[in-house]
Amino acid sequence: MGKNIAVVGVGAVGVEILKILKERKFPADKIRVFARTSREINIEGQSYQVEAISEENFDDVDIALFAGTEGEKGASVQYAHKFIKKGAIVIDNGKDFRLKNEVPLVVPEVNKDEISKNQGLIANPNCTTIQMVVALGQLFKRFGLKEVIMTSLQATSGGGRSSAQSLWEETKNIVEKNKGKNYFNQLNKNRGQVKSSFSHQIAFNAIPQIGSFNQDGFTTEEQKVIDETHKIYRDDKIKISATCVRIPVFTSHSESIYFKTAKVVELEQVKEVLENSPGVVFSANQSDFSLALDAEGKDPVYVGRLRCDSSQKNGFWLWAVSDNLRKGAALNAVQIAENLL
Ligand SMILES: NC(=O)c1ccc[n+]([C@@H]2O[C@H](COP(=O)([O-])OP(=O)(O)OC[C@H]3O[C@@H](n4cnc5c(N)ncnc54)[C@H](OP(=O)(O)O)[C@@H]3O)[C@@H](O)[C@H]2O)c1
Repeated sequence: MGKNIAVVGVGAVGVEILKILKERKFPADKIRVFARTSREINIEGQSYQVEAISEENFDDVDIALFAGTEGEKGASVQYAHKFIKKGAIVIDNGKDFRLKNEVPLVVPEVNKDEISKNQGLIANPNCTTIQMVVALGQLFKRFGLKEVIMTSLQATSGGGRSSAQSLWEETKNIVEKNKGKNYFNQLNKNRGQVKSSFSHQIAFNAIPQIGSFNQDGFTTEEQKVIDETHKIYRDDKIKISATCVRIPVFTSHSESIYFKTAKVVELEQVKEVLENSPGVVFSANQSDFSLALDAEGKDPVYVGRLRCDSSQKNGFWLWAVSDNLRKGAALNAVQIAENLL
């Protein structure tokens, strides 16, 4: 018998969850869809009736996949425990519960054994964390990790639908303003008066701030990568540091990752592990690297540009790219639901 599923939120991630449930033929008897307002939506030819979320209508849901907003007024804080009280298991994409001791933080390729410890709520990590822990997961298990330094180049859809739309509006505005000009002909590269989700212009730019700044100068996004990786690997001793940068790409995050293994290893051993890592497509050929556009709409974490750091023993660099809406959010949540079955 199939399960009754609820999807809360039909923004960038919620739509992807509905697509993936269908693609993977998730055994659902019924899929109910909730958002702030009721309406009918159409996703790839299939229509879904969206119900306005309200406390009265959470009966008969087995698994609720949350892709709403975060914080006090967000969907998860307001409604997750109400679903749980009615008997559902909640899988949440937001940050609100990720670091709570009683909430498993799961990436199935790395720590699916945590799923059975849930007390009604399972958290999906941040998209930036997920692709890094998948890329390094088997290396961590085989050789241990001493240190990880990561710089991410993150897509605008990571900030939700409206952020990806801002990139489009800014770009369109600049192109339209400059019709007939060329780069050397007094091009006006300013986004102008376009309403935007970003504090700075994102079109033709790069912003080294995702989230807000903590007192130590790191951003909340950077701190998530550190805290969540420690929790998922269950190893607080790994030295982790990160810089997260928003770039003018619609979908898929790219990461430049430096790591030092705890054990002494050769490049060939690292290659062999990456070739056999679940969820990873590894390219050993230096010039055959994957790009954000290649990863868009796909499931794996693509890893390439693996090389030894000649200045440090057991130090390596790699490049990892993955679709932030799929493996970084929706797919990971659906995989957790599949494991629950
Ligand atoms: N985007 C990513 O790459 C990514 C990756 C990992 C995790 N996440 C997390 O996933 C969640 C969803 O992100 P997103 O990018 O899909 O956001 P989004 O595009 O802004 O969509 C948010 C959706 O949530 C609904 N919603 C907002 N408040 C609600 C409430 N109180 N009750 C019910 N529904 C509510 C909205 O409803 P209406 O449509 O009716 O306004 C909308 O459909 C966030 O927690 C985000 O941090 C996102």
